[in-house]
Amino acid sequence: MINVTDIHKEYIDGETSVRALRGVSLHIAKGEFLSIAGPSGSGKTTLLNVIGCIDTADSGGLSIDGDRINGAHGVSSRALIEIRRAKIGFVFQSFNLIPVLTAYENVAMALSLLGLAESEIRERTTKILTEVGLAGMEDRRPAKLSGGQQQRVAVARALVKDPLIVLADEPTANLDSETGEAILKLMKSINQRIGTTFVFSTHDQMVMDYADRLCRLHDGLIESDEVRRSA
Ligand SMILES: Nc1ncnc2c1ncn2[C@@H]1O[C@H](COP(=O)(O)OP(=O)(O)O)[C@@H](O)[C@H]1O
Ligand SMILES: [Mg+2]
Repeated sequence: MINVTDIHKEYIDGETSVRALRGVSLHIAKGEFLSIAGPSGSGKTTLLNVIGCIDTADSGGLSIDGDRINGAHGVSSRALIEIRRAKIGFVFQSFNLIPVLTAYENVAMALSLLGLAESEIRERTTKILTEVGLAGMEDRRPAKLSGGQQQRVAVARALVKDPLIVLADEPTANLDSETGEAILKLMKSINQRIGTTFVFSTHDQMVMDYADRLCRLHDGLIESDEVRRSA
């Protein structure tokens, strides 16, 4: 479903350059619950951003659900935005909710961007907020929610458009371990029930233990790729 082939990405900053990805290949099948693990600076965020069409690689191939995206010149940025909007959900370390919008509005916005009818937006948003355990909190703004609840809103926002894949970049890093584990359990239960594909990054062993497949990234290279239990 997602094929990453020999991806290279270098950041050039004046005199210095950093080779963030040095030839990463990865095949992700539908329904996987996969963790990209590695220390800070190993390239996790860069890899998720390339897979998620937030950033483009310098070289190598990427195909998502049959759409081929080859480096910066493969698909126009407009097409990248379309692929991202329709097929990919993101969950970030720092939640990234819009502070002036309620929980409901933060989630509904993902569907407004897709141009869906008002009644469908209402139905799907209400359903997914219930699914993530936030029934009754729809009208709260992020400041009136705990960190764990904010991350639940972010998970709902990622899921509401029924994406092909959810990419979660260190989704538990700003949560205490108990709340982080609850978020992981939530993602896992959705993976098992609905079959949504999840790829998350982490450097926390507890989080890695939840993965069905664990890819270890080190200095921009995958050093191991291990299936721990079949999906
Ligand atoms: N925008 C950027 N400009 C320059 N260097 C960057 C940038 N983003 C990341 N890097 C560097 O690329 C390497 C990989 O970073 P990153 O993908 O953020 O790793 P991780 O998410 O595993 O911490 C690091 O050495 C980091 O400093
Ligand atoms: Mg990172």
